[in-house]
Amino acid sequence: MKTICLAIFASGAGSNAARLIEYFSDNNDVKVCLVLTNKQQAGVLKIAEKHSIAAVIVTKDEFYDFNSVQGILQKHGVDYIILAGFLMKVSDDLVKAYAGKMINIHPALLPKFGGAGMYGNHVHAAVKASEEKESGITIHLVNEHYDEGEILFQAKCELAPDNTVADIRAKVQALEHEFFPQVIAKYIANER
Ligand code: GRF
Repeated sequence: MKTICLAIFASGAGSNAARLIEYFSDNNDVKVCLVLTNKQQAGVLKIAEKHSIAAVIVTKDEFYDFNSVQGILQKHGVDYIILAGFLMKVSDDLVKAYAGKMINIHPALLPKFGGAGMYGNHVHAAVKASEEKESGITIHLVNEHYDEGEILFQAKCELAPDNTVADIRAKVQALEHEFFPQVIAKYIANER
């Protein structure tokens, strides 16, 4: 059977990308074969380089030119797209082309704390401001609307009143690193 190729789209530090690359390096059926970013300085580029994984930096114009992105993905034989802290909204054309094959992780319990502008510490700050007793992660398929695709998995962590935004982020990140790789692996295995 053909090895399934994952492309990770990321704009930031890339800690989830690192976890995914490491996790799938031990998997004979699925591999991370491409990292795509829109940021020249994204930490994820160093991670890709360390693991000898192809990486591309796209401009906004390239990213919203469907043929251009499609060309990159086809060249690398990409089967699934994993959004791991990718801050650009994916075009409807690309969402359609990868329907059921594009997965995002959101650092809160959707449908709460999702939508435009809800990323990174903005999410954790909003969770703190509303005095939530818990937060967590949501792993979901991507559709045309921000954070509204079918939910595949959620995991929760308890919050204490004196937890800072950094504390909340650390708790959520621990869940991301634990569950994101295995949820992707299970989803792909079920689809085969
Ligand atoms: C994660 O919190 C993820 O849930 C969100 O963006 C963040 C990316 O962090 N979508 P990293 O770059 O993987 O460290």
